[in-house]
Amino acid sequence: KLSNAQYNFKDYIRVIPDFPQPGIRFKDITTLLKDGGAYRAAIEEIRAAVEKLNIDVIAGPEARGFVVGAPLATALGVGFAPIRKSGKLPGETITASYDLEYGKDQLAMHKDAIEPGQRVLIADDLLATGGTIATSINLVRQLGGEIVGAAFLIELGYLNGREKLEGIDVFSLMTYN
Ligand code: PRP
Repeated sequence: KLSNAQYNFKDYIRVIPDFPQPGIRFKDITTLLKDGGAYRAAIEEIRAAVEKLNIDVIAGPEARGFVVGAPLATALGVGFAPIRKSGKLPGETITASYDLEYGKDQLAMHKDAIEPGQRVLIADDLLATGGTIATSINLVRQLGGEIVGAAFLIELGYLNGREKLEGIDVFSLMTYN
């Protein structure tokens, strides 16, 4: 059994060339998720890094943000607020649009997901262009939440997503440059 420090987490990420399009090297996290020890160690590393932020609630975008944000929330003993594609949440929602390569998409949160003044950490598997996280931050702020940080398994440094997160404490377990 390995201790956290002994994990080289990149060994558990499968890089798939030309998915979903030619030229893209897709970072597949399912190979990390299926290893119970590596998955737990990855969440524990993030928990230890963000613990000091005094978090009240974690918010994470579907779908892959749930597999990072939800276990992180239970590890910290705080709640989890799902951010979903619009049309999925049953209660009263707020929405925010973001640009995709072709067209637009909308993310939504329940109006009562966050109480004004709560300290919110955003969690997701991957920081790429930062569009998803910038939209998630916009939603949380509309609800009066205070963004205290953002945490990711993987950051694609060459896409400069961090520039969209100015003034926010960003933690990434792995970075690809
Ligand atoms: C992926 C990934 C991040 C986002 C990162 O989600 O899980 O949420 O893209 O890209 P960005 O920084 O350029 O916005 P995707 O929209 O593919 O949805 P999924 O998690 O449901 O697969």
